Amino acid sequence: MNPSPTHPHPKIVFDQFSAWYQNSPALENINLQMFTGERLAIIGPAGSGKTTLLHSLNRLFDLESGFRHQGQILLSGQNILEPEVDLADLRRRVGLIGTPATALPVSIFENIAIGLRMAGERHRERIYERVESSLKESRLWDEVKHQLDQTAQHLPIGLVKRLSLARALAFEPEVLLFDEPESGLDNITATLFEDILRDITPKYAIVFATNDIKLAARASDRTALFLKGALVECGPTRRFFTQPAQAATHDFITERF
Ligand SMILES: Nc1ncnc2c1ncn2[C@@H]1O[C@H](COP(=O)(O)OP(=O)(O)OP(=O)(O)O)[C@@H](O)[C@H]1O
Ligand SMILES: [Mg+2]
Repeated sequence: MNPSPTHPHPKIVFDQFSAWYQNSPALENINLQMFTGERLAIIGPAGSGKTTLLHSLNRLFDLESGFRHQGQILLSGQNILEPEVDLADLRRRVGLIGTPATALPVSIFENIAIGLRMAGERHRERIYERVESSLKESRLWDEVKHQLDQTAQHLPIGLVKRLSLARALAFEPEVLLFDEPESGLDNITATLFEDILRDITPKYAIVFATNDIKLAARASDRTALFLKGALVECGPTRRFFTQPAQAATHDFITERF
């Protein structure tokens, strides 16, 4: 797609990126761009490479032995695959809300504050302000403001998801990645999550991988289909679902809807 007039430079560029686990290919020659102010949905069957794509974006594969990659992933023009990249800094700039979403076994407040302290923030008031603003942005504040010192462990999944989002937001990230944001949510919480996504979009480049293609159709600006590690098609969501360019996209959509 052409760069949008308001955000002419892509935030992220996958440039001929390929990845392998123990010599079996997981992503093949991916060329894809992501923009600030946009929600990109990644769809595809199980094993098509959706999670690998998200994990590559914040170098989670560094934990994986036998993972190999080729090509580039540029974040604001800088290749994040270079060995000298500071991974803690990268993961603050590129927040991942994975699945299952998890809460640390500490208080709600500390779930967010710990990361800020680890990032070097020592100022108590600034930490409090950041915790409050990220809980507001993830629409959790009203529900938890009177129980910030209580353990986060027994929160229902919908709140844990918003807490993971708040933890990522506290770092003032540039990119937010969601892996299967729909998983475990009832209809009401899922709708709330879609509202939150829409509201925060202007500030971030948002990418979500989903097994729910109706969610992709409702809640994204562009959609990309992956099959067996290859990018089949990527385009504006409405066009993607009503007039897919590829027969494989048409088949996948009609099968799933
Ligand atoms: N840790 C791993 N070790 C070895 N192979 C892996 C690993 N993780 C994923 N794979 C393989 O890489 C390919 C892509 O997997 P990936 O998890 O990225 O797919 P996905 O689209 O997220 O699937 P799902 O919808 O099931 O979450 C698959 O063939 C999978 O078996
Ligand atoms: Mg996955």
